[in-house]
Order: sequence, then structure tokens, then C-alpha cells
Amino acid sequence: MKKIALTLLASLLAAAAAFADEPAEAPAADAQAPVRMITEATFPPYEFRQGTDVVGIDVEICKAIAAELGRGLVVEDVEFDSVLPSLIAGKAELAAAGITVTEDRKMKVDFSVPYVRTGIVLVYAKAAPCEDGASAAGKRIGVQNGTTSADYVREQLGQEPEMFDSPASAFAALKQGKVDVVIADIDPAKNLIKGEPDYDISDFLTVEEYAVAIKKGQPELLATVNKVIEGLQDSGRLDEIVDEWTAKADALQSAGEAAE
Ligand code: ARG
Repeated sequence: MKKIALTLLASLLAAAAAFADEPAEAPAADAQAPVRMITEATFPPYEFRQGTDVVGIDVEICKAIAAELGRGLVVEDVEFDSVLPSLIAGKAELAAAGITVTEDRKMKVDFSVPYVRTGIVLVYAKAAPCEDGASAAGKRIGVQNGTTSADYVREQLGQEPEMFDSPASAFAALKQGKVDVVIADIDPAKNLIKGEPDYDISDFLTVEEYAVAIKKGQPELLATVNKVIEGLQDSGRLDEIVDEWTAKADALQSAGEAAE
């Protein structure tokens, strides 16, 4: 009887010890959970699909941020106009999607230091050249939904763009004659016309900068993100990442697979 009581006591103590451990372990386990990045993966070379994986420059930048935090990375792919709302709703910690820093967006999220200087261009058929904003005015202009290209059409040209869910579907509409010209960021635009001798792109219509977005009010996370981006810039690693993923996106494009 005595022995049974002691055994019972021992197992009660063991159970209590296990309980006591739990609160200490739970936050630690949480800190090890992968960092969630949100993006829209039809934007080579910044983010595109390679098989089922989302890869590209932005993914590499976010991997480096996650590594600095001692964590892995998971990538979620949503429509471009859901990227910042999802971040604000707490569905991800980092948003990286070739996101241009704008005054409007700055009111809603915090941006890192910029990591690319770029801009938007016109994509047109050589048979019907359209090389500046003024020549695009009044035409049917295809853009990706929610982008600075859409803003440009509304604010600079005073008209409504035709909306598509990716730069590639806007370009497909151009090839089918459903729009007269497309506006997109220069790097995905270059990727689209690769191997398309009948199409060309214009000079920049705007000057824009990409940055990583985080939910407002997290100075520590912002400092870490900035430190990682500045480190990648200073070491020359960012240039390597850009070259490597531009080449990989081009190779996929020639294989007819990118950005569909
Ligand atoms: N830079 C443009 C913007 O911020 C277009 C970005 C589109 N990005 C994407 N992953 N589809 O509006």
C-alpha cells in the first residue's frame, strides 16, 4: 500500500514538473516558428514560381532576415492588392513583393530602407510604338491590379486602367489585341519581352524604390530588417542575388514557364 502511494506521488510530481515546464517552453517554441513572408509571385525576378516553390530576390532577402532572427522562412502567395492588408491583419511578419514605397502606403505600414531603385515602363508592340506617357493617354492600358502602374494611369493620365492579376496576363491581353499597351515595373517587363522580338519597352515613366514592409510599431524588427538589408548591400551580396535570380528568371522565361 505504502509502495503504491509513493509511486502515485512520484507520478504526480512528474506530471506537475511537466506542467511547470510548459509555460517556459511554449514561448521558446513560438520564437522558433518560421518567419512568415507574404508576397505575390508573378513578378520575376523578385518573386516567381519554380515548380511549387516561390523563389526570387525578395525571398532571398527575407531568408537572410529570418536567418538573422534565428528562424526559418515560410512564404505565402496572395493577390497583390491583398499583400499589405494581410500584413496589417497580422497574417505575416514581412511583406516583400517588389513593393514601391509610396506616401499612401507609408501611412499604413512601416518600410525598411530601400533595396532597389527602379520604375515603371510601357510595354508595346513595335508595330504600334508607344514610348511615353503622353502617347499612352486615351489608349486601353493594361496593368496589374493594385500597383503603382494602376496609380500612374489614374493620376497622371486621368483614366481607368484595365486590371489584370499579373503582369503576364496583361501582356497576354496585349498580344491578343485586348489592350493597346501595358504598364509594368521594368524588371518583370524585361522578363516578359524576352524572346518576343515584336515587343519592346519604353524608358522609365517614374522613379520608384522597393522596400520590405512590416506592420507599424515594431522598432526592433524594423532595425533588424534594415541591418540585414544594409549588410547585404555593403557586402555586395545583394548584387549577386539580383544577378543570380535575374538569370534564373530569364532561363525559366525562355522555357515558357515564368509568371503564368
Ligand atoms: N512596384 C509596384 C507596386 O508596388 C508593383 C509591384 C507588384 N509586385 C508583385 N509582386 N506583383 O505597386
